[in-house]
Amino acid sequence: MAASAVVQPMIKVAALCGSRKASYNRGLVNSAVQIANESIPGLQIEFIEIEPLPFINKDLEVNGTYPPVVEAFKCKILEGDNILFASPEYNYSLSPPLKNAIDWASRPPNCWADKPAAIISAGGGFGWGRSQYHLRQVGVYIDLHFINKPDFFLNAFQLPKKFESDGTLIDPHTKENIKQVLLSLQAFTLRLKYGNKRNWRFTYFLLVSHNSQTLSVAIKSFNHSLMVILKKKEKGN
Ligand SMILES: Cc1cc2nc3c(=O)[nH]c(=O)nc-3n(C[C@H](O)[C@H](O)[C@H](O)COP(=O)(O)O)c2cc1C
Repeated sequence: MAASAVVQPMIKVAALCGSRKASYNRGLVNSAVQIANESIPGLQIEFIEIEPLPFINKDLEVNGTYPPVVEAFKCKILEGDNILFASPEYNYSLSPPLKNAIDWASRPPNCWADKPAAIISAGGGFGWGRSQYHLRQVGVYIDLHFINKPDFFLNAFQLPKKFESDGTLIDPHTKENIKQVLLSLQAFTLRLKYGNKRNWRFTYFLLVSHNSQTLSVAIKSFNHSLMVILKKKEKGN
C-alpha cells in the first residue's frame, strides 16, 4: 500500500479586534493571519468585524431573534473552532466594542461555550496586561477556555519600533511570539476536539474513514501510538 500522508485537520480561528482600523492591535491580527497562512499548516484565521454591531440592548431581541447583523456575527463565532482576541486596554479593562461583541454572542445560544481562546494585544505600560486578566475573568462565565501559555504582552511604544504608522507589524521578535501563541492555540484546540496529542490523529482518521483502507491507516496509527507508550513505560518514563 502506498504510504499515506497524515492529513492535518483544518482549525478555523475567529479573530476579533476591539480597536480602530489602523491600530496596533489590528496590526497584530493582520500579522497573525499572515503567519498562519505562511507557516502554520492546518490553521486558518478569519478576521470578524465587530464595528457594525449595535450597542447591546435587550429591546432589540424579538421572540428570541436578534438584528440580522447580530445573527450573522453569532454564526461567525459558532463556526470558529477557537477565538483569537486582540484589543487595546481602556482604563485597565477591555475596550467597549470588544465587550459589546462578547455580550451579544453570549445571548442564547452562548456562542462562546467550550471554545479555546488566546489573546494577543498591544498597548502602553504593562502591554494590555491588566485587561487581559479582565478578559480571562469574563471568559469564565461564558465558558471560554484560554490557553495559559505563552503570555503575550506587547508594549507598543517601547523601542525598537514595532509598527509602521498604518499599524503594520514589523518586529520579527513579536512575529515569532505571535507564532508561538498560535501554535499553542492550535495544539490546545486539537486536544479538546480530538483527545490528547497521542490519539487525535487516530480519532481524525476514524472520523474520515470512508473505506477499509483509511480505517486500516487509523488502526495502524493507533497501534503505533500504543507501541510508543508501551516502550516508554518499559523504559520507566
Ligand atoms: C479611553 C482610553 C483609555 C485607555 N486606558 C489605558 C489603560 O488603562 N492602560 C494602557 O496601557 N493604555 C490605555 N489607553 C491607551 C491605549 O491602550 C493605547 O493608545 C493603545 O495603543 C491603543 O491601541 P490601538 O493602537 O490598537 O488602538 C487608553 C486609551 C483610551 C482611548
